[in-house]
Amino acid sequence: MLELIERTKRRQGLTAEGLRWLVQAYVDEEIPDYQVAAWLMAVLLIGLGAEETIGLTEALVASGRRLDLVGHGVVAADKHSTGGIGDKTTLVLGPLVAAAGLPVAKMSGRGLGFTGGTLDKLEAVPGLRVDLSATQFVRQAQTTGLVIAGQTADMAPGDGKLYALRDVTGTVDSVPLIAASVMSKKIAAGARFVVLDVKMGNGAFMEQPEAARELAGTMLTIGRAAGLKMAAALSWMDQPLGRAIGNALEVAEAIQTLRGGGPDDLRDLCFGLGSELLRLSGMEADETAARRRLEAVLASGAALAKLREMILAQGGDPAVVDEPQRLPHAPVEVPVYADRPGHVRAIAARDLGYVAIGLGAGRTKKGEKIDHATGIVLHAKVGALVAAGDALATVHATSPDTAAQAVSAVRAAYALGAEPPTLHPLIEEVLR
Ligand code: URA
Repeated sequence: MLELIERTKRRQGLTAEGLRWLVQAYVDEEIPDYQVAAWLMAVLLIGLGAEETIGLTEALVASGRRLDLVGHGVVAADKHSTGGIGDKTTLVLGPLVAAAGLPVAKMSGRGLGFTGGTLDKLEAVPGLRVDLSATQFVRQAQTTGLVIAGQTADMAPGDGKLYALRDVTGTVDSVPLIAASVMSKKIAAGARFVVLDVKMGNGAFMEQPEAARELAGTMLTIGRAAGLKMAAALSWMDQPLGRAIGNALEVAEAIQTLRGGGPDDLRDLCFGLGSELLRLSGMEADETAARRRLEAVLASGAALAKLREMILAQGGDPAVVDEPQRLPHAPVEVPVYADRPGHVRAIAARDLGYVAIGLGAGRTKKGEKIDHATGIVLHAKVGALVAAGDALATVHATSPDTAAQAVSAVRAAYALGAEPPTLHPLIEEVLR
């Protein structure tokens, strides 16, 4: 391991065998966290070459099984976001696309760095399990047409272990590490059509559009070499997506969106990415037709019913879909008021991600238990005009003390000004 750390640090190149050894030895607990953390930091600072990034992806896939969904009669779609604040897209998009007739089989991740994770959000639903075996994953894809699970001993365990370590060692924001992590899950889970949502802006790991584009390009190359049909959207994460940040709060917002309400930006993003999947799969010839189909599925209630079905299949309480008040909720709710009037010019998404972690919604140590109920709900988003004393947001906390700290941080995350901001489209571009 020491040799691999040294070789990485000195840019001497790593072989595919070396990377496979590293991942397997870590999964088998033959090398300690501190050495792997040192290696991850070397990769973050020095980078990996294109061949090495592919080698790492293959090593992560090979640490478990590569599922043959097509061989089991399921031609499925998958979607992955590179991470952001309030990004509950999967919880809406998955049911929407599956209800439109295209099965969705997805391996997700937990919270990572300052961003939230789909697995943690799903676990806010009482009883719901995300640690499915490969057999359960395939069976649910066949019977329900919608499955969202995590890395397990069967599926991409190498990514599961590296991911948890990266989360708490400041080693997330690296193109090769993100690309290998995301693509190993996509390749292992066996879907044929994959749309990537590559985030950019203050609440994303790749803040600058050029860096996001590089990440998208790396992932598209890896995926296409593995035989996937792919597209990548470059979308803005310069303010939180939707209004809710925090696990149960985000599940409730996703349910609201599947009921036909919910925030416009979330719904638009789901229609945009969902249309890409219907187009990639050949189910619809163009974006307009695909969008129309998804809108009809949403309006009919079929997507909401699909979410209910998935929750039931994974052992969760399906009644949360009809009664979101059954989700955990925090005992303390404190509004954050604007101290002056103005247009909301910016909301520092990353800072709010850290506030959510401080409230217990994310981890600061490996394996830490999180609080599914806590978080923030935004009442004013970028572009809103507020008066002094208007509520900008509400903090959901476990105690008045943690709430008080969060309130001042949330207020500081809002930039108010006399001039309205220039707004830009959420999806900047789709790389097809
Ligand atoms: N999503 C992942 O699955 N992995 C990363 O490294 C970042 C986002």
